[in-house]
Parts: sequence; structure tokens; C-alpha cells
Amino acid sequence: MEKLQNKILQEGIALSDSVLKVDRFLNHQIDPQLMQEIGKEFANRFEQEGITKIVTLESSGIAPAVMAGLMLNVPVIFARKKKSLTLTDGLITSKVYSYTKQETNEISVSNKFLEKAEKVLIIDDFLANGQAALALTDIVEKAEATVAGIGIVIEKAFQDGGEILKKKGYRVESLARIQSLADGKIEFVKEKEQ
Ligand code: G4P
Ligand code: NA
Ligand code: NA
Repeated sequence: MEKLQNKILQEGIALSDSVLKVDRFLNHQIDPQLMQEIGKEFANRFEQEGITKIVTLESSGIAPAVMAGLMLNVPVIFARKKKSLTLTDGLITSKVYSYTKQETNEISVSNKFLEKAEKVLIIDDFLANGQAALALTDIVEKAEATVAGIGIVIEKAFQDGGEILKKKGYRVESLARIQSLADGKIEFVKEKEQ
């Protein structure tokens, strides 16, 4: 997605060889116009899949997920990282291991909002090692719903999350795929379409 690539080049910062800072439009300040374009792009890529629901993870997945939900005309659920005061019964949970933090956290969704036979599009802001996306697929499958696809805003293609998810048979659509962040330089994977 060219608009997204340009935004990343203009406003993204390669903090290290492996971390891209995009808090000017995605992780802290949010660019609504860009989010809308992102939502449209996800909707285009998944419109044939009969999506009935979108599942994401708080907090940075929510903006792109809501825009995709708006365009596909389906509700959006975000998995919570902390237990909610009002949301205590019927939780479907899964564990996410974080390589950077070296800790395991539990994420949860209420079973009220995820029903059998539902066709779910999983959306997240970043794909690195794939642990968050895998936990979301686990939650969807525990609900006996179907993962129809995984939509990612920025994939770090030099990490193995994309491979892991594709090997498991999931359709992964990443709107920008980063090849390298070495030497403070942002390079995208060369492919016809991004
Ligand atoms: P890991 O697999 O690389 O260890 O990453 P981990 O799951 O621990 O992810 C930690 C957080 O960092 C996640 O956000 C994830 O989306 C984000 N993240 C991973 N790689 C990058 C990167 O290169 N750049 C940026 N900006 N973020 C990255 P989170 O803690 O769930 O936060 P949020 O969703 O509330 O923003
Ligand atoms: Na994040
Ligand atoms: Na995230």
C-alpha cells in the first residue's frame, strides 16, 4: 500500500535494527485519514471471505480494526490484556509470549461476542514474531469460529511471524512489509503489490 509506505518513510523512525517507531500515526497519535485508507484496503482484500466479525488486540490494533469493520460493515472486538471489572464471565483466554519483554500475558474475549460459525478477520498493527496473532487465532478457534484471514498493518518480514502464520494455513495480508531497518534505513520487501 503506497500511501502507507510513504507515511512510514516520512514519519517512521528505525529505532534499532529491529524496532520501527510509528507513534506519529499509529501507536500513539493516530492519523484518521490514513486509518480509513487502511480500513478500505483490508476491506478490498478480504471482501470475498464473508467476514462476519473482526477481532483485534488492544490498544494499537483498534484503530485500523474499527476502520476495516466500518468498511466491511461488521462489528469489531478487541481482546483485552487486563481483566475488566464488568467482563468476568464466559471469557475465552489465550497466552501471549513476548520475546522482547520475556513474559507471558493472558488476553481475553467474552464468548458472548464470538459465536460458532462466525467468520473472523484478525487485524493487528504489527507482525513480528506472530505470538499475538497466534493467540488471537487460538481464541477464535476456542470459540469454534473460523479464522478467515489475518490483516496486518506493518509486517517486519525479517522476523518469522509471517512464515509461522502462513505455515499454519492462514491467509496473511500485510499492507506494508519491512525488509530491513539496518543502519537506520527503512527498506520494504520488493514485490509487485504491497
Ligand atoms: P515481540 O514478539 O517482538 O516480542 O513483540 P511483543 O509481542 O512483545 O510486542 C510488544 C509490543 O510491541 C506490541 O504492542 C507489538 O505490537 C509491538 N511491536 C512489535 N514490534 C514493533 C515495532 O517494530 N514497532 C512498534 N512500534 N511496535 C512493535 P503492544 O505492547 O501490544 O502495544 P499496543 O498495542 O498497546 O501499542
Ligand atoms: Na504496539
Ligand atoms: Na499491537
